[in-house]
Amino acid sequence: MTATAAAVAMDRMYRRQRHIYDLTRKFYLLGRDRLIAGLNAAPSDAILEIGCGTGRNLVALAACYPASRLYGLDVSAEMLVSASNAVARAGLADRVVLKQADAVTFDPDAVLGRARFERIVISYCLSMIPPWQSVAAAAIDLLPPGGELHIVDFGGQEGLPAWFRSVLRSWLKLFHVTPRDDMEAVLHDLAQNRGMNLSLTRPYFGYSQLAIIRRP
Ligand SMILES: C[S@@+](CC[C@H](N)C(=O)[O-])C[C@H]1O[C@@H](n2cnc3c(N)ncnc32)[C@H](O)[C@@H]1O
Repeated sequence: MTATAAAVAMDRMYRRQRHIYDLTRKFYLLGRDRLIAGLNAAPSDAILEIGCGTGRNLVALAACYPASRLYGLDVSAEMLVSASNAVARAGLADRVVLKQADAVTFDPDAVLGRARFERIVISYCLSMIPPWQSVAAAAIDLLPPGGELHIVDFGGQEGLPAWFRSVLRSWLKLFHVTPRDDMEAVLHDLAQNRGMNLSLTRPYFGYSQLAIIRRP
């Protein structure tokens, strides 16, 4: 999918849905608040969310880490309208930078004016990006020493009934979502090749997976 095709597809999907997105997704995008609470950002840290959607996480991050500088990018201009409204409503317009870009190809320096981020968040976005491995690799390479990449996404639902897993996966397909069953193996290799540490947990009976990669 080209950058333009991704933008068209996401805009088409979210043009209407963005209005009910936060209300509905709180019931099934589980683990986002756990990720935010565990981010452990320092006051001077720059935090980037790749695929920030409606800005729901950025607003919560700003409340949790009141002195941090926040950056959000998304390929969907429609989602960014909601994000921009949410940021303005929360009085955060001067603390949050929002930009439209494709996570697969974006140049952080050109788009966001900086090349390093102490914390990077990718929440329920890698399951929507076909070359998700290269997005994860590029995000890791934006971390300075001491930096961390935090990922939350759909897991393998190992602890849930088989029928639930099958229904959930068929339903997610309608939204261009493919759970990344090899996420742990891929992230393990990416981390190991760079001398970094990976920790991965599977909360909610494996409904979600939460990964943290730390650059020493
Ligand atoms: C399921 S939503 C998650 C939004 C937000 N991170 C959250 O946790 O609520 C996925 C988001 O990823 C964005 N997205 C999908 N493909 C992308 C890409 N290639 N580059 C940047 N954003 C992308 C979509 O537009 C959408 O806003």
